[in-house]
Amino acid sequence: MRRVHTNGILDGFTVLPGAAPDYQGVIQELDGLTHGERDWLVNLANASALLKLRLADLNWAGFYLWRNGVLVLGPFQGKPACMRIARGRGVCGTAAAQRTTLVVPDVSQFPGHIACDAASASEVVVPLALPGRQLGVLDLDSPNIGRFNDADRAGMEEFARHLIAATDWPDFIGDALPA
Ligand code: SME
Repeated sequence: MRRVHTNGILDGFTVLPGAAPDYQGVIQELDGLTHGERDWLVNLANASALLKLRLADLNWAGFYLWRNGVLVLGPFQGKPACMRIARGRGVCGTAAAQRTTLVVPDVSQFPGHIACDAASASEVVVPLALPGRQLGVLDLDSPNIGRFNDADRAGMEEFARHLIAATDWPDFIGDALPA
């Protein structure tokens, strides 16, 4: 039976390997966690924990945030990861530079992929932005080749929209968009 905790997290079910992601459910839980809480650090920390808990077959879920032209490691769940990523480097730096979500079915085939965790086989990276300002990226890694598809792209973009709207972004997070 599902029980709802005061923090909005549902308890009492396990995500099985290969389970189809329930993005509407995950986004509802995100809305619950961010209700009455707009702090960027709190919300990014809980968002990464929620994704790692609820999406099957992930080995890493977290954020890189722009600071002076470099993507700097933010809140995440998974193994310790590379700390700084230059614009255009790896999947994260490429998605951020192109300002578009990248779904990479096999990271070994992606030129310049940065292997933080040797277990990572596929990846989805969603850029986070406000008008005129780039905040960073949301990165999910899976140990399975081809783990992410168009439903994950759409689900993660919707998740990112809710997270951005629910959070206050102080001026020191993110960079102005390059001309
Ligand atoms: N693989 C990423 C680096 C970040 S980690 O996977 C956590 C990339 O190529 O951008």
